[in-house]
Amino acid sequence: MDEKLRNFDISTFQQDLIDWYETNKRDLPWRKTRDPYKIWVSEIMLQQTKVDTVIPYFHRFIEKYPTPQDLAEADEQDVLKTWEGLGYYSRARNLQNAVGEVVAKYGGKVPENKAELGSLKGVGPYTRGAILSIAYNQPEPAVDGNVMRVFSRILKMEEDIAKPQTKKIIEDYVRQLISTDNPSSFNQGIMELGALVCTPKSPACLFCPVREHCQAFAEGLEEELPIKTKGKKQKTIPYVALLIKNDKNQYIIEKRSENGLLANLWQFPMVPVGEIGMDHIENWIHGGYGIDLHIGEYKGKLKHVFSHLIWQLEIYQATTDQEATTDERICFVDQEDITLYPFPVSHQKMLKYITD
Ligand code: ADE
Repeated sequence: MDEKLRNFDISTFQQDLIDWYETNKRDLPWRKTRDPYKIWVSEIMLQQTKVDTVIPYFHRFIEKYPTPQDLAEADEQDVLKTWEGLGYYSRARNLQNAVGEVVAKYGGKVPENKAELGSLKGVGPYTRGAILSIAYNQPEPAVDGNVMRVFSRILKMEEDIAKPQTKKIIEDYVRQLISTDNPSSFNQGIMELGALVCTPKSPACLFCPVREHCQAFAEGLEEELPIKTKGKKQKTIPYVALLIKNDKNQYIIEKRSENGLLANLWQFPMVPVGEIGMDHIENWIHGGYGIDLHIGEYKGKLKHVFSHLIWQLEIYQATTDQEATTDERICFVDQEDITLYPFPVSHQKMLKYITD
């Protein structure tokens, strides 16, 4: 057995953690069910997103798409509209693709088999482990950033948690520590501990149910761990974003590419002004979209931070005489219909600059 686990009282640790979880767990909507599809939806939404943000989205999503069949048959634009504001939209597209496969291949039943489940689009080791443990009570690790923080403290691990190898090491530890009687409460207990007690800053060690097992606490190192090297700094890209209106009070919106960032969401036309230059915007729009326009008043600026880049938007009003163009990704829409389309948050915020 590993050095770090030699003097570790595994069964008392499991009991302390699970008892604490059972008495202290938050009342969250996905904890009222064992339906693997609903657990799956919740775990996808909870990636990179806070619990409080997820709750209303989860309710709406499950109400609209209560089963894998319902989601598989839905229009992708409706799914993106339901996801609007949650971010990381490829999660929604992958989920819809994956439930399509569940319906086609497995008769609508989410696979209990690790290899089958893990081969579905967007189901990585974390999501697979969460579904298998929470819905199917299988003793599988579900290790995300929060779980890595908790175990790097409990086991006083000095490895960099930004390294993929560290996640593998922690998954190996969890395999040795997880309760086979109650893997669901074990994994959710670790998640809950990370959310409520073993927080990134100022962890509440005095309230920790597994403090006696914690090797970082024993040496006063809880604030030093985990060790995490910084990722690359995001690159800032300046854009001019245009609220282009015609005489019929229609605005021009554009469907983004079906691949890449914010795929298949809609936006107001946006020009990478660093490459094009302010003086050439009208020409660039004419060449790219077949639209003649006249740029008007400056309305304001918006910044949107993604995980890997930052958009700096300078927003201008503009006018055109046209009511159509040949570019099929461009739409002229009545002002009141704009909100029917799925927009990224940055472009939703532009709506407030539409004044008249
Ligand atoms: N974060 C990730 N999964 C979670 C869950 N099931 N409950 C609460 N927070 C979570």
